[in-house]
Amino acid sequence: MVVPRLIERKRDGGTLTGDEWRELITRFTAGQVPDYQMAALAMAVFYRGLAPDELSALTDAMLGSGDRLHFKGEARPRVDKHSTGGVGDKTSLLLAPMLAACGVVVPMMSGRGLGHTGGTLDKLEAIPGFRTGLSLAQTEQQAREIGLAMIGQTAEIAPADGKLYALRDVTATVESIPLISASIMSKKLAEGLTGLVLDVKIGSGAFLPEPERALDLARTMIALGTARGCPTVALITAMDRPLGVACGNALEVVESIAGLRGEGPADLMAVTFALGVEMLLLAGLDSDAAAARRRLEGVIASGAALDRFRQMVAAQGGDDAVVDHPDRLPTAPVRVDVLAERAGVVAQVEPRALGRAIIELGGGRREVTDAVLPDVGLEVQAKPGHTVQRGDRLAVIHARSRDAADAVVATVRAAIRIGDTLPDILPLVAWRVTSAGASRYGDS
Ligand code: URA
Repeated sequence: MVVPRLIERKRDGGTLTGDEWRELITRFTAGQVPDYQMAALAMAVFYRGLAPDELSALTDAMLGSGDRLHFKGEARPRVDKHSTGGVGDKTSLLLAPMLAACGVVVPMMSGRGLGHTGGTLDKLEAIPGFRTGLSLAQTEQQAREIGLAMIGQTAEIAPADGKLYALRDVTATVESIPLISASIMSKKLAEGLTGLVLDVKIGSGAFLPEPERALDLARTMIALGTARGCPTVALITAMDRPLGVACGNALEVVESIAGLRGEGPADLMAVTFALGVEMLLLAGLDSDAAAARRRLEGVIASGAALDRFRQMVAAQGGDDAVVDHPDRLPTAPVRVDVLAERAGVVAQVEPRALGRAIIELGGGRREVTDAVLPDVGLEVQAKPGHTVQRGDRLAVIHARSRDAADAVVATVRAAIRIGDTLPDILPLVAWRVTSAGASRYGDS
């Protein structure tokens, strides 16, 4: 195999054969293809795309580069949810215990904050002692015993993706629909699932803001999953404003615990229930959305979902007393209110800028190797469409020092724009996409 010839062919709009993709990925994983050649190929794919057969071969090769969960003899359905990332999106922390309480096994593998978005692992690690680095064997055992495990990508799962993703991250080749699809699906297919729900974000805070590209991404991943025996469904949801109020690691754990007690913000709960309904339908536990929704409400009302969360925290080494005493989570020493400087209507609450302010406070990373602070972040009470008076509180900054808070006040204020007319906002859940096609949410 002469790698420069493959790069050349892709660069000029040609295709690689399945055997070529398999050999390339095997050799790349073994360290026999240098990073600069793989990065050049990723850029060629970024511009030229992949034919369906190439995408299948690449996904299978990345999946086959590592191990997977097997769940031999496990009769219960196994369903996961994956989001393309946002600000304030803590639905995973709610859904995994809710679904486990319903009788679904949820082996959830999540990521860290990426760019301006938050990451489930960073949020969970705000719980003192919580370990996300479980091996595959530990994950499978815990998921069998208590119905859920929430872990990070291990070196055992799709190592080719781990290497390729790190290269794409520093070579401006992340935003490619085939590369994102192969990356996400190679990891999800390694979880031994019987169903997968994708939450593909749209709006200014999403990696692919335009609905058409999000729909394309959803369709691509659904086709990959479905063809590999993992029925996959996607909801296209709004990320033109943060989800919920809390944005930042420990703050989001507190809000998730409130949600599991039935006291979560309305927008967060609406998206959580919409995704949870799809998970239950895929699991085959309910055959209609209304019954699925009642089942989810039931496990919150009974406390069963909160109990599963408590069990998971304990099983993964965390301080489970935080469930009843969220004040045991790390809290930032300084809080600064951001107040409205004029009366009007909240016209925009820009997630990308708010995500960057959280990074500035230390709650996210500038470099992959940065440590994140668990306690800092924002509570963003303002929502597009709210009427405000001068002096009303729009947000609270949680910071390590007064200087750190002052450094982001202007960014937070600019991100929450006050105007005079009601803004256009995206529906919280805009589209439902299945292998049969896409429909406006609620129409199907
Ligand atoms: N998340 C992933 O896991 N892979 C991508 O390529 C993009 C987001």
